[in-house]
Amino acid sequence: MSELHVFAGAGDRSGAGFVTGYTSARMSLRNVASRLLVPGALACTVGCGGGSQGHGAGGGSSVAGSGGSQVTAGGGGSGGASQAGATNGGMPSSSAGAANLGGMSAGAGTSNHAGAGGVGGAGAASGMGGAAGTSGGMTGASGLGGMGAGGMAGAGALVYSGPGCSVPLAEADEPMLLSQTGCVDPSDPTKAVAALVPYDVNSPLWSDGASKERYISLPTGAKIHVKDCTAEPDTCKSVDDGGTGEDEGHWDLPVGTTVMKVFSVGGARVETRLLMHYADTEWRGYSFEWNDAGTDATLLSDKKDKMVGSQSWHYPSRSECLSCHNEAAGRSLGPMTQQLNRDYAYADGTMNIIDKFQALGAFDQNPTRIAAYPSPTGSDPLESRARSYLQANCSLCHRPGSVVEDVDLRFTTSFADTLLCNQAITQHPDDTNLPPIRLVPGDPADSNISFRMHSTIMGYRMPEIASSVVDTDGTMVIDQWIQSITSCP
Ligand code: HEC
Ligand code: HEC
Repeated sequence: MSELHVFAGAGDRSGAGFVTGYTSARMSLRNVASRLLVPGALACTVGCGGGSQGHGAGGGSSVAGSGGSQVTAGGGGSGGASQAGATNGGMPSSSAGAANLGGMSAGAGTSNHAGAGGVGGAGAASGMGGAAGTSGGMTGASGLGGMGAGGMAGAGALVYSGPGCSVPLAEADEPMLLSQTGCVDPSDPTKAVAALVPYDVNSPLWSDGASKERYISLPTGAKIHVKDCTAEPDTCKSVDDGGTGEDEGHWDLPVGTTVMKVFSVGGARVETRLLMHYADTEWRGYSFEWNDAGTDATLLSDKKDKMVGSQSWHYPSRSECLSCHNEAAGRSLGPMTQQLNRDYAYADGTMNIIDKFQALGAFDQNPTRIAAYPSPTGSDPLESRARSYLQANCSLCHRPGSVVEDVDLRFTTSFADTLLCNQAITQHPDDTNLPPIRLVPGDPADSNISFRMHSTIMGYRMPEIASSVVDTDGTMVIDQWIQSITSCP
């Protein structure tokens, strides 16, 4: 069964000091309330055992606060849950809930971090409910899903009720195993739990030749908002004028979402990354290193390099995650209409990914269909393939408001406005190893942008993090594009 990381909405049940309660609970609790594996809406469509059962339990067992601020503890899959929550309510550092929780889970030590008694107690009870489910972690977790919904509904925007798949915030509890996150089947961590909805992108990030699987876990009841410049023009103003940085079509993933990406090299899993939306503006990235036997992966506390076959594999640090998953680019990077407008072979049949999420009720309103980014290695016109590559691999850092913003590599930016063509470089212009012009029409060898992509010297190499193997397909499409350019606009 899965470990239950229950995340409390708050230790405060009065409703008044909610934010404070939230903060301290967040810092001190590893396992608090309402961990949900299965977003209610998504769950049963994708396939879940105990989803509806969980829902019922959740509704009945949330510990209601007054004034709309609620503890999201939720109860167990059984009636006894709310009982537990109530009993421990308000007791600081009660061990009751957490101890139960610890007992439930593979990872011990959680009891130390049960800061909020009531919440912890309820959470533990949820765990018990989950545990009682005969089909193991999934069923239990579904029960929790129901809980999460109850908590979220009462608590308002700030409350993170915990996705089904998550890493606790408390550093003291690390390291932990991927099998304990709720994102994967604990008895076979190579399998994502059914509640995670898989997807693929049209224009991937080059990851040194690794193949990748991607999954989204949405919290119960929360909806994805897709940025739409027609409906909300203000968000599409320039960042300086108060707009948001991410692209039109970007899927703004709600608080509580976890996205998972699994990397394999030569058929063997190397790394699993979890990107989690904790609170309003707070996102976190975590890297798990797979063991050689491929049976589980361990959470890393810092970056790490390791030889994988003949290549050096870089496990990014948490701050490296966020320099790519930066605010200007919208934190989550792949999920956007242009990237996910494509078919995917789901277990219950092949379907367009946007249609899939729409059918699951995942959007606050059905998104406008924006044309798919061309595959960089496909048969679309050269320029659009090149621009698609730059969008996916480079524009996260090269756009207004981001790392090096005077090079704008977004797909929709006109070629003139990218400030590439015959423009002098601004980064280390005195370094004679660097071609001094960003892009010389017809001449990749003299173009800084091509040099940066071909280089394997850190400091010169682009992207600047987490890649040491040249993307031969990617450099080819960029070089051919540069070759095809005859003059600057
Ligand atoms: C070099 C920049 C870069 C770094 C460093 C990086 N990522 Fe990403 N990541 C991306 C891009 C670009 C995508 C989207 C394209 C794709 O999925 O191929 C992505 C996709 C993801 C996804 C799928 C959801 C999404 O936002 O598209 C997850 C999960 C993820 N990354 C987690 C992490 C974590 C965790 C770390 C740190 C351990 C990390 N990434 C480091 C660039 C980066
Ligand atoms: C994680 C953020 C990040 C990503 C992703 C990234 N870059 Fe950069 N880029 C930088 C930084 C930082 C610099 C400045 C490097 C230096 O100090 O030399 C830079 C510099 C450059 C420059 C030099 C600009 C000048 O005027 O000197 C070019 C060209 C460039 N990047 C192209 C790319 C391309 C092409 C990609 C994608 C293949 C890419 N970058 C991806 C962060 C990034």
